[in-house]
Amino acid sequence: MKQQKKNGLPREETAAAARVLAEAARVVTLVREGRSADAALLQFDQSPSRSAIRAVSLGTLRWLLRFEPAVMTLLARPAGQTPLLLRALLNVAVHQIEQSRNPRESTVSAAVDAARLLNLAHAAGLINAVLRRYLRERETLLAAVDEDVAAGAAHPAWLVEMLKRSWPDDVLAILAANNEHPPLTLRVDLTRIGIDDYLGQLQRAGLAARAVDWLPTAVTLEQAVPVSKLPGFKEGLVSIQDASAQLAARLLEAQPEQRVLDACAAPGGKTGAILELVPAVDLLAIDVDGARLQRVADNLRRLQRNAPLQVADLAGDLAWWDGRCFDRILLDAPCSGTGVIRRHPDIRLLRRADDIAALALTQSRILRNCWRMLAPGGRLLYVTCSLLQQENDAVIAAFLAGTADATAHRPAALPLAVASLRECPVGWQMLPGGEAGGDGFYYACLTRA
Ligand SMILES: C[S@@+](CC[C@H](N)C(=O)[O-])C[C@H]1O[C@@H](n2cnc3c(N)ncnc32)[C@H](O)[C@@H]1O
Repeated sequence: MKQQKKNGLPREETAAAARVLAEAARVVTLVREGRSADAALLQFDQSPSRSAIRAVSLGTLRWLLRFEPAVMTLLARPAGQTPLLLRALLNVAVHQIEQSRNPRESTVSAAVDAARLLNLAHAAGLINAVLRRYLRERETLLAAVDEDVAAGAAHPAWLVEMLKRSWPDDVLAILAANNEHPPLTLRVDLTRIGIDDYLGQLQRAGLAARAVDWLPTAVTLEQAVPVSKLPGFKEGLVSIQDASAQLAARLLEAQPEQRVLDACAAPGGKTGAILELVPAVDLLAIDVDGARLQRVADNLRRLQRNAPLQVADLAGDLAWWDGRCFDRILLDAPCSGTGVIRRHPDIRLLRRADDIAALALTQSRILRNCWRMLAPGGRLLYVTCSLLQQENDAVIAAFLAGTADATAHRPAALPLAVASLRECPVGWQMLPGGEAGGDGFYYACLTRA
């Protein structure tokens, strides 16, 4: 017999909901303290509730900058003086109230129970009172927040200002795309299986999917599923990779037998894409982070591909380099990640305005070093998953202005008919979402005289 209902949900369901809210509040607190959401979620990898904890945590992080100002006005103390864990629990609860189908009253009860699980029993009365008042006043509270474009779209104000400067006509569409759930896109290894054959395998597995019309290797699933459910994943027939990221390997225009440098390679998404596209290249993958480079090794093993890997700081002195030049260099530079906010909502909280100039400096430094390793007549593809002109065209334009033997090149594989791909003065920007459906990426291709 089902146990007695508590505020519209059976009692055991409220208890499970309370546990998820408590764990999500812990994750949100860790992110507030500077940890990435992926790192904060690692501890729940083995939990039977991991998908629920992940969904609630990421959903809360996605909307926190809209819901927090609404609920914090109900506290007597300013938000800054409220302990992070208590703030996080209120944010998680408000996110559930606004976005889940559970009865709202039951979310309030679950939040009060969650407070006890988090050793916040002393604040249970406060949480109950604040959330009940939120339920009564939510429309007015949210309407007040929504008067500000940045807060209404749950983005930091500095980022909206920078986006406006880079994309004045597209900023609202970008904010809307950042708030959507990202599609699950696969890269199919066309050397091992045709796209129609793979779509057939997906269909037989009961997974609805369609080919991406502007990219021959890409398939988008209608619903995300764990990789264990994907036919051929373990054998390396497919990888998870957004279409805009997959495009980079094509724009590199590598030819068989060429020496290719995959600079800033980890975790190896583009390494795999290059090797599947042109298996006979002589590729070296480099990253400064040894632990992340291990993930390149794991990915290549699954894909049944091989490449030497090297830990090196590409912003440093190149002492490791043997002097042999590369015909193609893919520089997938470290960046703000402002093009992939829909996948990583924690970027809204973790990035600061000051980071952008510092990133641009590192990007320029790595670019100059990579140029030294490029053979005459060779090509370098500069890629970021940023939407900010400071990290993209500005870096490349300044480099071109100061480098006599560098010219911009237009790769033949650019899907120019796709409306989300915008031509910049030097490179090309894929905006997130829209008709193309991909992440936000920037590409610039340079040829050495
Ligand atoms: C955008 S990620 C690369 C993603 C990768 N290309 C892929 O497709 O999976 C940027 C990478 O740059 C690396 N990185 C950052 N600074 C670096 C440096 N100074 N030298 C080499 N790699 C660096 C980071 O460790 C990170 O793995």
